[in-house]
Amino acid sequence: MGNLPHTYGNDADCETLEITVEDKVAQLEIILSYTAFKEHAVLVRSAKVMNKSQGSVSIEKIMSLSLDFPTSDYDLVHLNGTWAREAQITRESILPGIKVLDSKRGASSHQQNPFFAIVDPYATEQQGEVFGFSLVYSGNFAAQIQMDAYNQLRLNLGINPFQFSWKLGPGKEFQTPEVVMVYSQNGLTGMSQQYHSIFRKHLLRGKHQKTERPVLINNWEATYFDFDESSLLQIVEEASSLGIELFVLDDGWFGKRNSDTEGLGDWIVNRDKFPEGLLSFTEKIRNKNMKFGLWVEPEMISEKSDLYSQHPDWCLQVEGRGKSLGRGQYVLDFSRKIVRDYIEVVLTNVFSEAQVDYVKWDMNRHITEAFSLEYPAEQQREIYHRYILGLYDLLDRLITKFPNILFESCSGGGGRFDPGMLYYMPQTWTSDNTDPVSRLKIQYGTSLVYPIITMGAHVSTSPNHQVGRMTSLEMRGAVALAGNLGYELNVVKMDGKEKNIIAKQVSFYKQHRNLIQFGDFYRILSPFEGNECSWMFVSEDKNEALIFYYKVLNQASEPLKILKMHGLDSEKNYYFEGEQMPVGGDELMNSGIYLPANINGDFKSIVWYVSTDKQY
Ligand code: DGJ
Repeated sequence: MGNLPHTYGNDADCETLEITVEDKVAQLEIILSYTAFKEHAVLVRSAKVMNKSQGSVSIEKIMSLSLDFPTSDYDLVHLNGTWAREAQITRESILPGIKVLDSKRGASSHQQNPFFAIVDPYATEQQGEVFGFSLVYSGNFAAQIQMDAYNQLRLNLGINPFQFSWKLGPGKEFQTPEVVMVYSQNGLTGMSQQYHSIFRKHLLRGKHQKTERPVLINNWEATYFDFDESSLLQIVEEASSLGIELFVLDDGWFGKRNSDTEGLGDWIVNRDKFPEGLLSFTEKIRNKNMKFGLWVEPEMISEKSDLYSQHPDWCLQVEGRGKSLGRGQYVLDFSRKIVRDYIEVVLTNVFSEAQVDYVKWDMNRHITEAFSLEYPAEQQREIYHRYILGLYDLLDRLITKFPNILFESCSGGGGRFDPGMLYYMPQTWTSDNTDPVSRLKIQYGTSLVYPIITMGAHVSTSPNHQVGRMTSLEMRGAVALAGNLGYELNVVKMDGKEKNIIAKQVSFYKQHRNLIQFGDFYRILSPFEGNECSWMFVSEDKNEALIFYYKVLNQASEPLKILKMHGLDSEKNYYFEGEQMPVGGDELMNSGIYLPANINGDFKSIVWYVSTDKQY
């Protein structure tokens, strides 16, 4: 697959069929590759073009997938949104003509995830046929859903042909990204379980593929740019006493970075904030029994930075026409090796000097002028793709050099939440929106494709900084507990009662995180369809489960409601905490349990843990 991210497996896991098609006149060959995974209802498809002629050819459009169905009698499901409102589920009928879902932003984007599904119009979360399509790529993509005059359906998915072309010299090859196709007869939940499993087992890599993820605290919403070593150490001290395992130092620790308009590119610790340097700071963190994580945004550069004054030509730009600022910054030209080599050196210095355990890799603006000063005019339409290949190359070098670091990717939250990034960085900051009510939809939608272990979920302060909503610490905790749990608030300012609640959440999470991060995930009630949300986790042996129920707004005189569980073993008996009498799995799934009639107040949650063992 060249240096593109891809699914992997050995002979026991999968088998690949390659079909070679040939254009004798143009002397071009295309290898269509189909990999079937034995334990998954998954087929992975990609294409490779080979130029066997003596001259160059120009590729103007090349899709990873082109698939025809005899009818268009399906609904289309996809994930769209924007910053702080990612992964909103849209379900619509397929109508005559062409529907395009795409990104032209140089990243997979908040606006449209590189995924869609076609589903039986009667399919639900648990029943009905679903076909899912997910592109393993982090840049511009396009999905076309076309219904023709005879009701036939053609699906295309791949690199966006917008501002794309590729000069293929004699003897050269061009490899497309992979599309991971999933089939489910068990509705959308069945599709998601296939994606979760294939991505966890055959896409994520390295030491952290199978390890439990730490509970972290991040200082961003607690301090923004207003911090120094001593104020952070107070947070560390308190967090450590609450059982939190890792401290993440977010934006503002380097160069002259006191706002988002300056300093990007100067990856040297700011001595005004850390007088004794980063290592000394991290040693103090380790003395508190915590690990250390560091935020970086390596693809970017501020005009007000030493790097920019030395290398203004290192940004993406159109010669003579300039470049646009986004969040006060420019994008470095990662299509150029010299730029990547430099960033590799400076990051290597920082990561090794500070003995970093975790890295949050951010990208806070998307790409506008995708032009490079290094390439001739006829290759400028290669830059969007070359940028992504350059990014993958640099990530590959860094994860190889630092196999112990847990990398988390981020692009203003979920602006680049895609399987391509997960191949290098096995978790993603799901959204900058930490309000639990907004998060119900964001996490529910994200779970359509991405495993729970890949989703960062933090408890932040109330009123929430993105939407101003006030919610209880219990509700915020119950939503963040259903992901990779973290905190993003100033624990120093909290009272004893609140600290107690956090300590309990952390200890509950540690007790159950294996089930949350590696269990099977079932969506039960959709926040897109009503005032409630529910999902559950079941262990592989079906001996334990965690059930989460959330109610957004309270109502007077609520009718009685039953919640039916999923995925349990109908032959097994399960105990609720503190209960003497077990309940049959069949009863929990077919008759369900009554939800308490009187949940007093808005934004409430209930979490049940059931186990085949008695729990007292
Ligand atoms: C956007 C991220 O999503 C936030 O969590 C934070 O890291 C800021 N960038 C820092 O600039």
